[in-house]
Amino acid sequence: FSNLIDLDSYSPDEWNMIVELAQQIQKNPALYRSRCSGKIMGTLFYEPSTRTQMSFQTAMLRLGGTIIGFDNPSTSSVSKGENIKDTTKIVSSYADILVMRNPYEGSAKAAALTADCPVINAGDGGHLHPTQTLTDMLTLKNEKGRLDHLKIGLCGDLRYGRTVHSQLKALSRYEGNEFILISTPELALPSYIKDVLNARGCTYKEIYSLDEAITGESLDMLYMTRIQKERFSSEEEYNRQKDVFRLDTEKMKKAPKDMIVMHPLPRVDEIAMDVDDDPRAMYFTQAKNGMFVRMALIISVLEGRLGAPKLLTGTIK
Ligand code: CP
Repeated sequence: FSNLIDLDSYSPDEWNMIVELAQQIQKNPALYRSRCSGKIMGTLFYEPSTRTQMSFQTAMLRLGGTIIGFDNPSTSSVSKGENIKDTTKIVSSYADILVMRNPYEGSAKAAALTADCPVINAGDGGHLHPTQTLTDMLTLKNEKGRLDHLKIGLCGDLRYGRTVHSQLKALSRYEGNEFILISTPELALPSYIKDVLNARGCTYKEIYSLDEAITGESLDMLYMTRIQKERFSSEEEYNRQKDVFRLDTEKMKKAPKDMIVMHPLPRVDEIAMDVDDDPRAMYFTQAKNGMFVRMALIISVLEGRLGAPKLLTGTIK
């Protein structure tokens, strides 16, 4: 069946299909309220979540389905030592679709190998977060009208930020997108993602100043990210990185008039609260979009619209 572990298993046409369905649902959600009647979604969240978990759950409930699962492994038999494969095997025999978040890279893929129903990766450690990228794509499509020929700045924790990795892997497959990577040297994008960008002949530049990116790069979108405290090996290392980049109203005054600001959230203090009143701040809209895109994804997976996952070979783009 059509697992969603990495968006690269599908084509931009298939991603566009999900985004377009999400736009239709957004316009008339009532049309879809019985679409998944009788279906059950299992949510296995081994890591904390507000948006991803609740938007998936709300999406399924709004489609007429029901939900089971845990949001804290300590309340499940994981606390007795049960491994991911066994838990997945069991819960997938109760549910029609599984959504899993786990701190280990590759965990969703491992789960999919034993599951008896489709598995959706809701974030595997510092690796990937494909449904956040679909959310980001819906937001870009709604606000900028396109997913290509965009100049995108990504700022903050590019090393551990799974939302950044997934977004770069996806948006690098559309024509004409350029990326400005804004981080400290310690939190630079991992080489395995740079290899993907290089293989696709993608234009990107690494810079160390948010001011420079905002004033000098004519960005269409700035993607701010949280420094991922939970991925650091020491508190000292985190403390050295945590306050380096902060978007405030002074910086927004210098930014392009049509540069939207996105953030997967949660934020700590990398965006000042008063930026929320700027009409270019899209992060709350983006979080709401997550529910519509997940409704579209659930329908697409359960109705087999995505087909079987494909392995990419040869030239990609
Ligand atoms: N964007 C995102 O993944 O948020 P949560 O951690 O709250 O799910």
